[in-house]
Parts: sequence; structure tokens; C-alpha cells
Amino acid sequence: MGIKKATMMAVAMAALVLTGMQPARADEFTQKDLELWQGQYEAAVKKGRQVFTDPGLGTNGVVCAQCHPNAANTHPETYPKFQKQLGKVATMAEMINFCIMNPLEGKPLALDDPRMIAIQAYITEERRGVPLAPGKH
Ligand code: HEC
Repeated sequence: MGIKKATMMAVAMAALVLTGMQPARADEFTQKDLELWQGQYEAAVKKGRQVFTDPGLGTNGVVCAQCHPNAANTHPETYPKFQKQLGKVATMAEMINFCIMNPLEGKPLALDDPRMIAIQAYITEERRGVPLAPGKH
């Protein structure tokens, strides 16, 4: 190992020690935290179910649930995967925006839009227990 590299590693390790950082260790949490977080998650799922029938998401009155009743045929467990419509390996959020822009003729949602997060929570909750199968068609 060169002196430069050794020096850089020493600096990096010193920074870890100084900032008290631990590699990949879970934070501690209480039962109360768990209940709070579960409640927040369930609220997101509920909001997602509402967004699925919200004509305000698009401009033509069409809603997600018309083509995906109970989030049918959304296959969250298969993402990321190659999507022909997008011509690349895509995330589910990109396909959600594809459907907002096309069948709903709406504006795409930002990734951190609470509605985008809620849609993903609802779709994924509906498929709880289905094994992950990224890339699958
Ligand atoms: C007019 C019918 C229609 C509407 C309305 C619609 N979609 Fe789709 N959706 C489709 C079709 C068709 C596909 C393409 C399936 C494919 O080729 O993977 C699709 C694909 C998807 C996929 C990827 C499915 C997969 O198997 O990979 C997701 C996720 C999705 N839609 C979510 C939504 C959401 C969220 C909404 C509401 C914003 C919505 N869709 C509205 C018809 C629709």
C-alpha cells in the first residue's frame, strides 16, 4: 500500500472514530416507537388506497382503480425490471408516473410527493407475502 493511500485510510478511520459512527448497526427503539411507526405506515397505505380512486391525479377523470382494482396487475415484487414502455430498467415509481402521464393524462409526481409514497405503500401492502422476483415478467 502506498503512503498516500495509507494516510487516506488513517484519516477515514479517524473520522469514523471521531464522529462515533458504527458500520451498519441498527438504532435502538422502544415498543412505543414501533407502534408509532406502524401507525404512520398504515396511514400511508390508507392514503394510497384513496389516491387510487382520486380523479384529481389526472386531467381526464380516469382513476388507477379502473384498470388496477385492489392494485391488481401492478406487480411491485418484480421491480426494478426492464420496462418496454420506458426502454430501460425502471423502478415502480417510474411506471406509476407513466400511468399518471398516459392513461390519466396528468403531471408526473415527484418521488418524495406524499401521494407517490402512499401509492407505493398501498400497492406493495396488497402484495404482502409474495416473494421478491426483481426483473420478472
Ligand atoms: C386505462 C388503464 C390504466 C390506468 C387507468 C392505469 N394503468 Fe397502470 N397500467 C396499465 C397498463 C396497460 C400497464 C402495462 C402493463 C405492462 O405492460 O407491464 C400498466 C402498468 C402499471 C404498473 C406496472 C405493472 C407491472 O406489471 O410492471 C404500475 C405499477 C401501474 N400501472 C400503476 C398505475 C397507477 C398507480 C395508476 C394510477 C395513477 C395506473 N396504473 C393507472 C393500465 C392502466
